[in-house]
Amino acid sequence: MDLHVIVLAAGKGTRMKSAHPKVLHRVGGRPMIEHVLDRARELGAATKVLVIGHLAAELERALMSHPDLTFVVQEPQLGTAHALLAAEPALKSRTGNIVLLSGDVPLLSRRTLTRLIDAHRQSHAAMTILTANVDAPRGYGRIVRSGEKIARIVEEKDATSAEREIREINSGIYAFELEGLFEAVRTIASENAQGEYYLPDLVSIYRQRGKGVDTVIVDRPHEILGINSRAELTLMNHILKNEKNTALMAAGVTIEDPATTYIDPEVEIGADTIIHPGVSIEGKSVIGLGCEIHSGARIIGSQLGNRVVVLNHCVIAHSSIEDEASIGPFAHLRNHVTVGTHAKVGNFVEMKNTRFGEGSKSGHLAYLGDAVIGKNVNIGAGTITCNFDGTHKHVTTIEDGAFIGSDSQLIAPVTIGERAYVGTGATIREDVPPASLAVSAGKQRVIHGWVDQKKGGTDGS
Ligand code: UD1
Ligand code: CA
Repeated sequence: MDLHVIVLAAGKGTRMKSAHPKVLHRVGGRPMIEHVLDRARELGAATKVLVIGHLAAELERALMSHPDLTFVVQEPQLGTAHALLAAEPALKSRTGNIVLLSGDVPLLSRRTLTRLIDAHRQSHAAMTILTANVDAPRGYGRIVRSGEKIARIVEEKDATSAEREIREINSGIYAFELEGLFEAVRTIASENAQGEYYLPDLVSIYRQRGKGVDTVIVDRPHEILGINSRAELTLMNHILKNEKNTALMAAGVTIEDPATTYIDPEVEIGADTIIHPGVSIEGKSVIGLGCEIHSGARIIGSQLGNRVVVLNHCVIAHSSIEDEASIGPFAHLRNHVTVGTHAKVGNFVEMKNTRFGEGSKSGHLAYLGDAVIGKNVNIGAGTITCNFDGTHKHVTTIEDGAFIGSDSQLIAPVTIGERAYVGTGATIREDVPPASLAVSAGKQRVIHGWVDQKKGGTDGS
């Protein structure tokens, strides 16, 4: 039987106090809606519908990379039942089951969703609700039971004080039989504290009609936490971060101070790697075995081999570092830098889109952009590749074993041949052939007595 997924994301997210759609705020380093769309993809849904409304254009633009997503606009936003109705045209002539997800509930696991769908299919219920027993039910709809069976859901704002004591909450995630669903949802009224069309009201409607309504209780209640405020956003990121740190430590990674270590969920780190305090590792970064990452480093979407050392305060973005290389302190590598085995990138070195070969060294103060640098090259302090002519970027090639003297400018496009030397303070505009020396600084002149002559032989006052 076909499965269709609808994700609700039209709401205003008032409590976020944000100029951007709530579901684009990041959880575990990615917009929270992306986590929800991951689930929809894993389920192999035949139809995927996203209900947008508030700031719809910004949201649609941000999700352009999902061509199989059907966007439907709910305008104005009159509640969750009204939002579901907005998806009806996108499901014309479909049959099967619907899973309704909330764009603001990002931690839901594939396992829990599968449990919900399996239970729903087995019981042939018209509606199956994912619920959780929690210690702090505040803000959530409460599950009111009569005997074993669910009778209705009451929203916090409409609940009596006795109902507010109920610890079983509605996750806002449901499985539905598609047939008859929209007709029943249309009968939901808006006579409640918020004047909204509440989808949870479908429970009592179905029960009155003698239709099957079931529940599945999650075993890990934090999975269904919804994000409605900045505080909840931070809490959720905190939960994810703790889970990640705990899993990495269990797998043999030393994390000296988990409280100040921020590692995104998708990061992989090998055993015996040591992470010092205040490190962030983001995106899909992969760190090998036995590396050491010192305080203040930020690594984004990058790959590090084994036994790589990253000294304090480096930024490494979208780059790749091979085994036993050493980076920093205070180095900045960005935009597809590759650093070869045993290479050394030292203090205040910036590299952009550069290949830095095996065993090469750039110890201090350099800018290497759009460069192809071979093996065992030595880059002196203060070397600059002048890669930009004001309109275009050009490549600097430095072949194996070359030596670039300190304070040199290499004006691209230019090639320094194998084993060639560039003298200190040179401005190199033309290719340097292999095994030769290029100097461009003029001969030194000394003007004897210049200081005294200039100052008229006095102390200058
Ligand atoms: C909802 C449930 C509540 C449940 C909680 C779980 C209702 C009335 N209440 O409350 O029982 O415990 O979720 O997190 O359903 N949305 C729209 N259009 C609208 C209104 C909302 O698309 O007109 C979307 C929101 O963008 C959000 C989701 O629906 O993704 C839930 O809406 P929200 O306002 O956050 O509902 P809650 O008050 O959290
Ligand atoms: Ca919510």
